[in-house]
Amino acid sequence: MIQGHGGNVASVAARLGCRPDEVVDMSSNINPLGVVPGLLEHLRQRLDTVMSLPEVDAGAAVAGIADILGIDAGRVLMGTGSTQFIYTACPALGSQKVLIVGPTYADYTSSCQMHGLVPDYFLAESGEDFQVNCEKLAKKAREFDTVFICNPNNPTGALIPHQELLALCKRLPQTRFIIDESYLPFAPEQVDQSMTRCTLDNVIVLWSLSKIYGIPGLRAGFLIGSATVANQFRRYMQPWCANSLAQEAIGYLAANKQMLAEFVNKTKMYLAEEMTTFRNQLDGCGASLYPSVTPYQLIGLPPGHAAEEICERLIRDRLLIRDCSNFHGLDSGYVRISLKTPEINRMAAKLFVSAVGR
Ligand SMILES: Cc1ncc(COP(=O)(O)O)c(C=O)c1O
Repeated sequence: MIQGHGGNVASVAARLGCRPDEVVDMSSNINPLGVVPGLLEHLRQRLDTVMSLPEVDAGAAVAGIADILGIDAGRVLMGTGSTQFIYTACPALGSQKVLIVGPTYADYTSSCQMHGLVPDYFLAESGEDFQVNCEKLAKKAREFDTVFICNPNNPTGALIPHQELLALCKRLPQTRFIIDESYLPFAPEQVDQSMTRCTLDNVIVLWSLSKIYGIPGLRAGFLIGSATVANQFRRYMQPWCANSLAQEAIGYLAANKQMLAEFVNKTKMYLAEEMTTFRNQLDGCGASLYPSVTPYQLIGLPPGHAAEEICERLIRDRLLIRDCSNFHGLDSGYVRISLKTPEINRMAAKLFVSAVGR
């Protein structure tokens, strides 16, 4: 689906008659610390690679990511962002009955629609802080051949703990679980929460470089499954779907694993502190704040306010936040704010509190 995402800075700037860089974008969920250090310099030096075709199957880049994740390269495919695999999942898996665990990212629904499927939903509830009840989910999921789970979830920020998710996948071996871990690297990690090491044939993990490394424009994302599942998806791969610079970027990341780990840790520490400050600033304004392990906060608006009105108020101050009314399972009572620099976060909290009139 081309519509329905955050980050529409260009159209907002055009409406306000200002430059796009004069609009503060808190509607898209990119690492607030920016791009991973040294990567842009590396890519500048490698610009000439666009003059020849990249590796057709991104073999070296796939090996690089497998090395970073500590898994077998035969289980990994590289695409034009994880989006490529969201949209090829249903045909690759031969899905007929799809369940989406929501409220969540709309592209899972769009991908079903693209292939003539009408998905069903298992919706976590605001009264339960949008935490997914895996016991109830298991009962419903057994009727479906494919289940999409975003973990941690966009836009709620909720995480299904690793052991619960693994137990669910083991309990229903006939159901394929597509687990989108685009935001998992932001989560504070007591234990390794990732499913990338799981080799069950019914587990498919989507892994993105866009958010955590601050490079959404490179369009670099991965599918990780068992060797059997990877082969099923291989039949739906176009040649050269990962461009030369995206492949170059992986070479740089794989050669700098220590720096990467430090960058990710620094990001987690920054977010833990900023999220606490941000939530404290909103305390007492009447909004509901749901627990989040991601760089964004889902906010339930105080009664009497609608997302469209609040977003419009903030746009007048050149601040773009995400109206969540088009997420299936949410309504005009919700917005999502993605954290940026401390100055921007403080300013956004003040503007939000004043917009809800407290
Ligand atoms: C949950 C989720 N998955 C996938 C994507 C797309 O990521 P990529 O850039 O890897 O295609 C997004 C982008 O917003 C997202 O929020």
